Amino acid sequence: MQPSIYRLGYVAMNVANFDECVREAQEVIGLNTVEAGKDRALFTSNQRHAEMILHRAAANEFRAVGLEAYDVAAVDRIAEKAKAAGLKVISTTPSLPVIERSVTFMTSEGHVFEAHTPMPRDQSRRYAGGGIHPRCVDHVNLAASDPAKIAGELRAVLGLKLSDRTTGDEIVWLRAGDNRHHTVGLLKGKTGMHHISWEFAGFSEFRRLGDLLDTMGRRIVWGPGRHGPGDNLFSYYVDAGGFLFECTAEMEIIDDLGFQPRPAVDPGENLSNYRVVNRWGQLPSAEWMGHHNNFAAPQTTTA
Ligand SMILES: [Fe+2]
Repeated sequence: MQPSIYRLGYVAMNVANFDECVREAQEVIGLNTVEAGKDRALFTSNQRHAEMILHRAAANEFRAVGLEAYDVAAVDRIAEKAKAAGLKVISTTPSLPVIERSVTFMTSEGHVFEAHTPMPRDQSRRYAGGGIHPRCVDHVNLAASDPAKIAGELRAVLGLKLSDRTTGDEIVWLRAGDNRHHTVGLLKGKTGMHHISWEFAGFSEFRRLGDLLDTMGRRIVWGPGRHGPGDNLFSYYVDAGGFLFECTAEMEIIDDLGFQPRPAVDPGENLSNYRVVNRWGQLPSAEWMGHHNNFAAPQTTTA
């Protein structure tokens, strides 16, 4: 089965410190502001209409993962499969007026996904402003109490493909149609969002990020390094909204049509196998290991 999803669409968060988070999106990660209202702001780093959506709210919680389906037929197929899999369909009203068709559903653990028709490519390729300027929002890594079960649901409903897994399914990496090694990762833990990843042009951007955070009295919480599965470079920091942002580059593209998932890799106790988690040797910090963001209670979205 071919994936019904081409790539990661957007990430949406509720933030209590809305104005600070908007400023930081513009000045640290360096996103282009598409729309900045009193209670909602849309950002992108390329021509796609929205890659990050911030909502003013009472608490900082993750709201939804947008996944870009190929077309209307793919969205309708996903809606049918979600129902067939017994998953709760929350809404069929797109969360943004620019989205033609979508279905928002919940995994059995409560992760919220909106599978939507492609974001319009209606923004400028380059833009002014401070911050580092990523290339795109690249992947998300969810926390799940049963990663294998959630991976099974996402494979059945969305057609995501298994790229790699650890021996006890402590981490599972799933890819979409763009063949990036992972668009959705699953990490064993309390249900929620673990991290959101932005792709950068290269390693030198991490140096700029580290220096920029330093000027603000902030810091990188893990990295730089290179992950095993995915082969991607990484640095992580916690943004103003308390979400863990990964800055990445050089993610593996799986372009082998005959690719089969590789043998499961042993993560070691508490992710201590550096060949898996960081081939350069530095193991995850306590902050990275303990990071957690809840999903907001699902709500019917309106355009
Ligand atoms: Fe990641």
